[in-house]
Parts: sequence; C-alpha cells; structure tokens
Amino acid sequence: MAIPPSSTRTMPDIARIPRHIAVIMDGNGRWAKQRFMPRVVGHQNGVESLREVVRACRDLGVEYLTVFAFSSENWRRPADEVSFLMSLFLKMLEREVASLHKNNIRLKIIGDRSRFDERLQETMRKGEALTAENTGLTLTIAANYGGRWDMMNAVHSLLAARPELATSFTEEDLHPYLSMCDAPEPDLFIRTGGEKRISNFMLWQLAYTELYFTDTLWPAFDRRELEFAIDSYQNRERRFGRTSEQLLGERAQKGDSVA
Ligand code: IPE
Ligand code: IPE
Ligand code: MG
Repeated sequence: MAIPPSSTRTMPDIARIPRHIAVIMDGNGRWAKQRFMPRVVGHQNGVESLREVVRACRDLGVEYLTVFAFSSENWRRPADEVSFLMSLFLKMLEREVASLHKNNIRLKIIGDRSRFDERLQETMRKGEALTAENTGLTLTIAANYGGRWDMMNAVHSLLAARPELATSFTEEDLHPYLSMCDAPEPDLFIRTGGEKRISNFMLWQLAYTELYFTDTLWPAFDRRELEFAIDSYQNRERRFGRTSEQLLGERAQKGDSVA
C-alpha cells in the first residue's frame, strides 16, 4: 500500500474539489429541542442529513468522507441516549449497506469497536467486507473514536510489531498504524452546530486541514450547505508553511492563472 503524502513532510496536491472532507455532525440535540422534541429525534433526522451529504459528495467527486458519529467521550451521556444511538447505528447500517454497495461506496468504520455489542460489531464487519472492493466514495464512520486513542493505539501497535523501534521511530514508521492510514489527510473539516472546537477528532490528520464552522445544526445541513463549505474552501490559500509570494511564483512557473 502506497503511503499517502504527509502534509508536514511534502507538499500535498491541492484539488479544486476537496479529495477528503471530515465532518463533526453536531447539533442534533439542539435541533430537536428547538422543536420541543426529545434529543433522539434530532439523531434520527441527522441520519437523513448524512444520507444527503454522502450523495452530494459522491456527485461532486469527493473521494473520502469521514464523519464523527460517536466519540470516545460520548459514553458520558445519559444511558438511554447512548443506547438509542447504538440501536440507531445498528438500524442505519442494516438498512443502508446494500444501497451504499449499489452506489459503489466503500464503507469503513474507525474507532475502538470492542465496546460495542457483538451484533453491531458483526454488522460493521459485514458492511465493510461487502463494500471493500468498491471504487467510488470511501465513507468512513468514526464510532467510539478519539484522536488521542488513535495515536496511542498506533504507537502501541507499532511497538508491538517492531520492538526494535522503541527508542526512536519516525512519522513514516508510525503512519501505517493510524486508523486513516490509507486515506489522504482531510482537505476540508466541517463542524456544524456552532461550536468551534475539534472535540478529539482526527488530531493527527487535521494538521493542515482547512477548518469550516457553521451554526447550522446537523439535521438542517444539506447539499446547499455542503456547497457553501466547499465554496469557502475554494477561497482559501493553502500555504503549508510557505509565503503567498512563493505560491504565486510557483503558479506562474507552472503557467497557471494567478488572477
Ligand atoms: C451530535 O449532536 C451527535 C452526537 C454527538 C452523537 P449532539 O447530540 O451533540 O447535539 P447537541 O450538540 O447536543 O445539540
Ligand atoms: C462531537 O460532538 C462528537 C460527535 C459529533 C460524534 P459533541 O457534541 O460530543 O462534542 P462536545 O462535547 O460539544 O465537544
Ligand atoms: Mg453536541
């Protein structure tokens, strides 16, 4: 497997349509509360937004969409909300995997699955196996995922496999053990729901990602909102440590328009 370029080591290629979009789908509870409904209704409606965003990403030619569905800290929520989220996750997978497959979408799940019940784990494995060879959009769902967990897990796995590296290892040595090792780093990060924080999502991979925050609550987020985010992304200057003047010089050399 070829290692995707690291934004801190090389200059990643920049495409007009982000190759990889990472999303914190936040605001379900508040969306429901605004409508005097229980929080879980917000989660239910959030599934519809996810469906629409997956379709839109596929249509736009986005290669990777990674969504935060349940954080390693979300176990701190009331037990009935946690158990609702687990059964919604199971139902969603059971209902949607066939249509993901039909649409050539590859499903991946990242996070520590060992805490999920066996039926959910089995459904995850089956969904991934069924869609593993698909070549369209890769949809990655982060469940019981935390950025720190991911890094710690990668370090432990590296050292178990290659104990001789215990005193010194490089970014390249660690890379294959991170859960998103086969995807390029996200170009665009979107957080809905108004909060301006990362909440322990993809801490390693977001190093040079363009961040986009919107007040729109996740159940109200749709294709048009996604296009706003991409539009904002397209107006950013991604310098990766260099100066604007250097970028202009490089573009002029390549014969690109610098207007
Ligand atoms: C995001 O919406 C979904 C999950 C964390 C599972 P929230 O449930 O966090 O909604 P708010 O932020 O309370 O409105
Ligand atoms: C982040 O949302 C996690 C997911 C969307 C799954 P939270 O609502 O849990 O984040 P905080 O607690 O407000 O930071
Ligand atoms: Mg929230």
